[in-house]
Amino acid sequence: MSVPFNFATAIEAALNQAAAQLGLDAAPFAPEVRTADARHGDFQANGVLPYAKRTKQNPRALAEQVVAALPASLTDAFEVAIAGPGFLNFTCRPATLESWLATYATEPSLREGASATQPESGQTFIVDYSSPNTAKQMHVGHLRSAVIGEAMCRLLEFGGAKVIRDNHIGDWGTGFGKLIWAYKRHLNADALAQDPLEEFERLYKLGNKTADEDESVLEDARQELVNLQSGNEENLAIWRHINEVSLAAFQKIYDQFGITFDHTLGESFYNDKVSQVYAELTDLGLAEISEGALVVFHPEHPRFSKQPFLIRKSDGAANYASTDLATILYRVEHFQADGVIYVIDSRQGDHCQQLFLTAEKWFAKTNRPLPRLEHTSFGTVLGENGKPLKTRSGENIKLRDLLAEATERAAQLVASKSANLPPAEQQAVAAIVGVGSVQYADLSQNRSSDYVFSWDKMISLEGNTAAYLLYAVARIHSIFRKLDTDPSAAAATAAATPLVTATEVTLARKLTKFPEALRATIGQLRPHTLCLYLYELAGEFSAFYNADKVAVDDAGVRARRLRLCARTLLILETGLNLLGLRTLKRM
Ligand code: ARG
Repeated sequence: MSVPFNFATAIEAALNQAAAQLGLDAAPFAPEVRTADARHGDFQANGVLPYAKRTKQNPRALAEQVVAALPASLTDAFEVAIAGPGFLNFTCRPATLESWLATYATEPSLREGASATQPESGQTFIVDYSSPNTAKQMHVGHLRSAVIGEAMCRLLEFGGAKVIRDNHIGDWGTGFGKLIWAYKRHLNADALAQDPLEEFERLYKLGNKTADEDESVLEDARQELVNLQSGNEENLAIWRHINEVSLAAFQKIYDQFGITFDHTLGESFYNDKVSQVYAELTDLGLAEISEGALVVFHPEHPRFSKQPFLIRKSDGAANYASTDLATILYRVEHFQADGVIYVIDSRQGDHCQQLFLTAEKWFAKTNRPLPRLEHTSFGTVLGENGKPLKTRSGENIKLRDLLAEATERAAQLVASKSANLPPAEQQAVAAIVGVGSVQYADLSQNRSSDYVFSWDKMISLEGNTAAYLLYAVARIHSIFRKLDTDPSAAAATAAATPLVTATEVTLARKLTKFPEALRATIGQLRPHTLCLYLYELAGEFSAFYNADKVAVDDAGVRARRLRLCARTLLILETGLNLLGLRTLKRM
């Protein structure tokens, strides 16, 4: 029997088939099959009841008809029961569980299964994430975009999408006038060699302060900006230097998170592409001049009918909105994007809404295909006081320092829990646990909410944390080491006898829910769903491992239990890697 990868999508397809056969309108009928409370089976379909109501039929009778019309391939695989007034419950038959475990034995097989069932498969997605402004260090406010963005890239790729990672850096702001002014006069070569971004920040602050105090400096800084924008070689060289240095510093952070961008097409890249935006939007009657600026009103919108989208400043300069519009066009024309995912702070919600509304109208009027545009927004990282996280003295916490502290704190945990490891390995483990804890603490929260940053909670073996899951992974590896075998041998074993104990079956059923967790995570672009699944899986594994001895003499029992260990390991490792974490064989 060929076993489906995702049971829920297989059930949905079968329900749709039954509905079609009965001449029912399928779309509202099998909207979504969900993972059920284990007492009611594995999956539940709730579409019959509302459908029967709407069409004035007896729900129970309709449910019976639907069940009778289900294809045999489905009823062979699942026991189907009608509950209450017409809910359909599906329980995996033992043979189905066995064959799922036998089939999805390796990472490539899971990947293949996901690509075959995910709706994003074959589509091209641009993920616009991290995207900091240059000439400044990355701070804690830059954490979430990088971490959530990378996880979404990996998840979409796993689901068969082509992903283009694009770092839309802010490298063309008006701040460059003051910075170049200060760079030319006050650059400290030693400081530059020591910590270039710190030096640029100092110069920027100096330029800003001096320009505030002295009208003539402000004028000079303006001139530096004009020169830069009109292509003056000296200023361009300084500007390039600042951006190169910034990107090299950013890359050190990205390396710790395992991020490699395909493109870094920042705002400056669109410099020569904004005039087309102005021209088209003006010709189409979408943009108009208001108080000297070029703006787009959205009359149908409660707020944007009065607050327009400002796409060219009154001094003629491009802004964040103009470059973002040019960027959408480029992504569609150059990359043939089917979707663009903007991983940006929720405070830019209005910007994104206005951007998307404008693009929608612009593309409709020019017969261009509109990609799916998603603002994957997120809340703020808060300190224990409930305010945005800062240092004691009220400054932004640099990401570099944050990750260093995470590693240091993880080293303490590792020293107490893994004292047996050689010191060099403890250090390597600490880096993975430390950075992983920061990533996981962020990902395991619903991204829409703010969350409180707490070292004690995040670097802990208790609760839904990276350390808990990384230890679970290492522990399964150690089971194999002790038995002098390895997970891939257990993966292929034919000696396994069918599952018997309740804990074996519960764990196996949980394993088969991975595709559903994946689908929900990708569908909503919400990594916390996968985090929760992995945490629950690790819990089921512990229950199994405490109840059922693996190293027994009976070869068949031992093989089937080792296979469960191998599958749990596979899914935990695959899941954690999809979230952007590195895993360990030993801790
Ligand atoms: N540089 C911007 C900032 O720091 C984020 C850019 C996000 N991407 C975009 N296409 N607007 O706020």
